[in-house]
Amino acid sequence: MCGIVGYVGKKNAQDFLISGLKRLEYRGYDSAGIVTFDAKGKATLLRSKGKISDLETKVAKNKRTDTVGIGHTRWATHGEPSERNAHPHKAGKIYLVHNGIIENYKELKSKLEKFHTFASDTDSEVLAALINHFYLDGEYPLSNAVVQALKLVHGTYGIAVVSELKPTEVVVARSGSPLVIGIGHGETLIASDASALLGHTKKAIYLNDGEVASITADSVEIKTLDSQPVSAKVETIKTDLAAIQKGGYDHFLLKEIMEQPASLTETLRGRINLIEKTVHLGGPNLSDKELKSIKHLIIVGCGTAYHAGMLASYYIEQFTNDITIEPVMASEYRYRHAHIPDHTVALIVSQSGETADTLACLRDLKSQGVKTIGIVNAIGSTIAREVDGGTYIHAGPEISVASTKAFTSQAVAMIMFGLTIAEAKGIKNSFIAPYVEEIAALPNEIDNLLQTLPDTIKALAEKYKSYDHAIYLGRDVSYPAALEGALKLKEISYIDANAYPTGELKHGPLALIDDRFFEFVLLPKDNLYDKSISGVQEVLARGGHVVVITNSAEFSLPVDNVIKITTSLKLLAPILMNLVSQLFAYYITTAKGFNVDQPRNLAKSVTVE
Ligand code: AGP
Repeated sequence: MCGIVGYVGKKNAQDFLISGLKRLEYRGYDSAGIVTFDAKGKATLLRSKGKISDLETKVAKNKRTDTVGIGHTRWATHGEPSERNAHPHKAGKIYLVHNGIIENYKELKSKLEKFHTFASDTDSEVLAALINHFYLDGEYPLSNAVVQALKLVHGTYGIAVVSELKPTEVVVARSGSPLVIGIGHGETLIASDASALLGHTKKAIYLNDGEVASITADSVEIKTLDSQPVSAKVETIKTDLAAIQKGGYDHFLLKEIMEQPASLTETLRGRINLIEKTVHLGGPNLSDKELKSIKHLIIVGCGTAYHAGMLASYYIEQFTNDITIEPVMASEYRYRHAHIPDHTVALIVSQSGETADTLACLRDLKSQGVKTIGIVNAIGSTIAREVDGGTYIHAGPEISVASTKAFTSQAVAMIMFGLTIAEAKGIKNSFIAPYVEEIAALPNEIDNLLQTLPDTIKALAEKYKSYDHAIYLGRDVSYPAALEGALKLKEISYIDANAYPTGELKHGPLALIDDRFFEFVLLPKDNLYDKSISGVQEVLARGGHVVVITNSAEFSLPVDNVIKITTSLKLLAPILMNLVSQLFAYYITTAKGFNVDQPRNLAKSVTVE
């Protein structure tokens, strides 16, 4: 959600803080701020509502040579987007930036009001006042005051705190919101996402929940909330600067759509045996015996990750014969009292690896003794580190808020996991081989589509950009793909797009059809093709404005538009068709002049509930 950066060293702190916040802006962006300190502790606090560029203008008018500071981009949870609610927040001599939610902030605030005059509506300022309450203007080391305060807090936090009295130290802590510490030469950097550290250092310490670190230019001391020392594990950041830059595209979204042949190739690398027609996933840490004993598969995710899990579940049912599969929305599942049968394994699906609802389900399922397997993109993320085993999808950093390449890689990774279960269960290779062959062919099929269709889809987008409503339709495995297509369109173009199983139309949604709507139909040439044709005819009979995406050469109904896909795929065509939906949403949004990579009200990683 929010982005956090910090710097202690010899260089200009304002420069790193602003450049770091720009890298993190996709995570949340309705206000931003930085505070820097000179050697005597004089603070320069600059905050602004709106984008980082607005803050940058303020910084340019208040240039400092300070070498210590912290910064924050905010996605509002408590208190409307405004300068007064922007971080950093001040309490006494200390300044704090916070990512997360302090659930008991009202109770704490009522006790602190006699010590602190609150200037904002945020829960974060309450945390700053609480820390200051224990800090007693420097009577206690800042890290001790932070520990005492955090022991009273219920909720999630990633924080960075600096005191005017000791402007050579930054104290950081995390529980539920990520924090990474970059180790430089004579400088130490802090960020809520490793991408902000790239270009400065490749060495990083990923803080764990319940840890507090005191950071100076050349030292990092970590302890637990019980003040037990923790030995720092320095890791290498596994992504690079080029991967998080636009690479010549107008938007990250188009870059990430167009790089799917390469990103999916990375997902498959070393995991497909085309001679034996088998797959091998090293990460899940499940023996053949454990794979063979699986009777129930829960697939947990939010948004696009949920859709990828639902899509994979349809395929896994096709080539296994004795397991039940339950794709669930994490935000719902975590509050259900679902019965979990014996021999259950849970797939925890998350691009960012930080989604709060998904993380909560992971922890709950683990507490019930369920084996958890991560299907994650962000290396070293919280979910990736807490699952029992996992498969990184290796799709590379996904910066645009709308998820595209991660969907394709997540879905395929889960289908491959399903194939490993089928292999362990002794399912005949004749059932498995067609899926393995099509998975291996998918990057090339995607490349062919991306070489031929963008201009056609761009022209189509011009025709449909003015609609306010859209119905996406798909049957069987095309239904999760329709859900994903509708999500893409709604979350960046703000067109009210909803998806239905084609077979459900006559049970209600058909009543919606009039000139306000267009219908976007995924129509693969599969065993349900004829059934789906009748669904299209139902819509046409009511005067619908229909766009059909199909790989059927003989499709000829009198619809408004047809996008014909040429592919050898028989089984995985819906995954390919989803790229048409991605491009369609992208071009409609650019035609409307909206912010493609940072749509209103949303953030890339939803680390709050
Ligand atoms: C998808 O385009 C959205 N950005 C959103 O639904 C996203 O998929 C969801 O928040 C889950 O994020 P995660 O994969 O990082 O857990």
